[in-house]
This record gives sequence, structure tokens and C-alpha cells, in this order.
Amino acid sequence: MKQVLITGATSGIGEALALHYANQDYAVIACGRNQARLEELSQRQTHIQTLAFDITLAEQVAEAAAQVDALDIVILNAGDCEYIDDAGSFDGALFKRVITVNLLAMGDLLEHFIKKLRTGGQLVIVSSSVTYLPLPRAEAYGASKAGVDYLAKTLAFDLAPEQIDVTLVQPGFIKTPLTDKNDFSMPFLLTAEQAAERIFKGVQKRRKILDFPKRFTYLLRLLSWLPFSWWCWLLTRKKS
Ligand SMILES: NC(=O)c1ccc[n+]([C@@H]2O[C@H](COP(=O)([O-])OP(=O)(O)OC[C@H]3O[C@@H](n4cnc5c(N)ncnc54)[C@H](OP(=O)(O)O)[C@@H]3O)[C@@H](O)[C@H]2O)c1
Repeated sequence: MKQVLITGATSGIGEALALHYANQDYAVIACGRNQARLEELSQRQTHIQTLAFDITLAEQVAEAAAQVDALDIVILNAGDCEYIDDAGSFDGALFKRVITVNLLAMGDLLEHFIKKLRTGGQLVIVSSSVTYLPLPRAEAYGASKAGVDYLAKTLAFDLAPEQIDVTLVQPGFIKTPLTDKNDFSMPFLLTAEQAAERIFKGVQKRRKILDFPKRFTYLLRLLSWLPFSWWCWLLTRKKS
């Protein structure tokens, strides 16, 4: 039975991925901090084992990895989103929190989990389509995910000699506790189950980049071709 480890499996996309992989006969190691949610998840599907740790604490990451044997797939999905509501009174602590969980934590996770991957294994890194285009209030989230994109893309060629394939996942809006906090309209919103199915299929095909839904990501790409000054004008015109 193939083994997959998924971070951020206590809710949203990660939870849906854990259930999807387990239903496809993978042995799943579901990770997160929330012990009660992990317990609940393992009771829903016999193929799911759990590992509770905080990805931002190096010691906990090392201890968790020490409990894991060889893996076929590692999915680094855990993350958080907080917005900079007032750039004029920039919230440095918020910025640090978001960069820490989304980007800096990747360092320890990669250090400990890449070596667990079998030859021919796969590393899947969940970023966001936010990186196609600068979006309002996304200074912290967007900067963290832009870093994640670069990291995943460089790993794609630097891990090739180790025979490890890397998939960078850039979802559009997915209905999860993370987006339930949003107070703006979210076009082409998908369910976490739809996202999990797309990620599962894309990872199976060993795709290098996985972005969805296409009708949203193509639109973002099209807008990203605008001169940056036009994009700034479009976003600020209502205020002047
Ligand atoms: N939802 C979207 O529209 C969307 C779009 C693009 C990209 N994404 C990305 O997809 C990923 C999953 O997002 P989601 O929407 O499914 O969010 P979510 O429902 O809020 O889930 C976030 C997960 O990350 C875990 N997590 C957060 N901080 C952690 C920490 N310090 N240590 C360990 N685990 C931690 C949480 O578990 P615990 O609280 O149990 O620790 C939870 O399982 C994120 O990387 C997000 O940026 C989401």
C-alpha cells in the first residue's frame, strides 16, 4: 500500500485530500495541531493514521519525522491567510506570522521529510493562484506564496537527480474555514472535495504545475499581462 503524508489535514483541502487518498487505498498520515480533529479523522477511515505537530516548531517537526518510515508522497499543504487591512499602519507581527507558517516552516519540513521519500517519490507543495497577480490586502499572504512558488519550482529541477518529482499546486478559491472568513466575492469557488480530486489526479499524472479552476487561473493570467500601472489604476480608481 502506498504511503502519503499530508500536512494541514485537520480541515479544508488537507482534510478532503486525506479522505480522498484513503478512499483510493493509500495509507495516509494526516498531520495538524488539532488533536481532536485528527482523532475524528482517523475514526472516519481506517487507512488514516495521524501525527500532531506544529510545522513552525523545528523540534516538533523533527520529532514527528522520526516517527515516519518511507513515504511515496509528501503533500505540504498546511498554511494560513491573514490580510493587511491598513497598509499605512503596516502590521509587522501579522506579516511575520503568515510568512512563518506558509514559507519559513517549509525549511524544516523539507529538511526532515524529503529524506523519507522513496526513489520515484513525489513532493507536492500547495501554494496559491494569488501569485499570478498582486491583489489588495494580500501583502503577507501573496509574498509568502510567491516564495513558495519559487521554492517549489527550484526543487523541481534540483530534486530531479534524486528521482523525486515535485508538483506545485496553485488553487483558486476553495470553500474552507480559511476562505469562510473572506468578506468579498470569490468567483468560481470550488468545494474542498473538488480541489482534492483535482490534486489527486494531477499528482497521479506527475504534473509539474497544477492550477485550477482553469476559468479562474486563465483570467488571472490574462489580467497579469496588463501593464502594472493599468492594474494599479483599476484597483485604486474607486478611491480617488
Ligand atoms: N481555500 C482556498 O481558497 C485556498 C486557495 C489557494 C491556496 N490555498 C492553500 O491551501 C492550503 C490549505 O488551505 P485551506 O483553505 O484548506 O485552509 P484551512 O481549512 O484553514 O486549513 C489549514 C490547515 O493548516 C493547518 N495549519 C495551520 N497552521 C499550522 C501550524 N502552525 N502547524 C501545523 N498545521 C497548521 C491547520 O491545522 P491545525 O489548525 O490543526 O494546525 C489546517 O489543517 C493552504 O496552504 C492555503 O494557503 C487555499
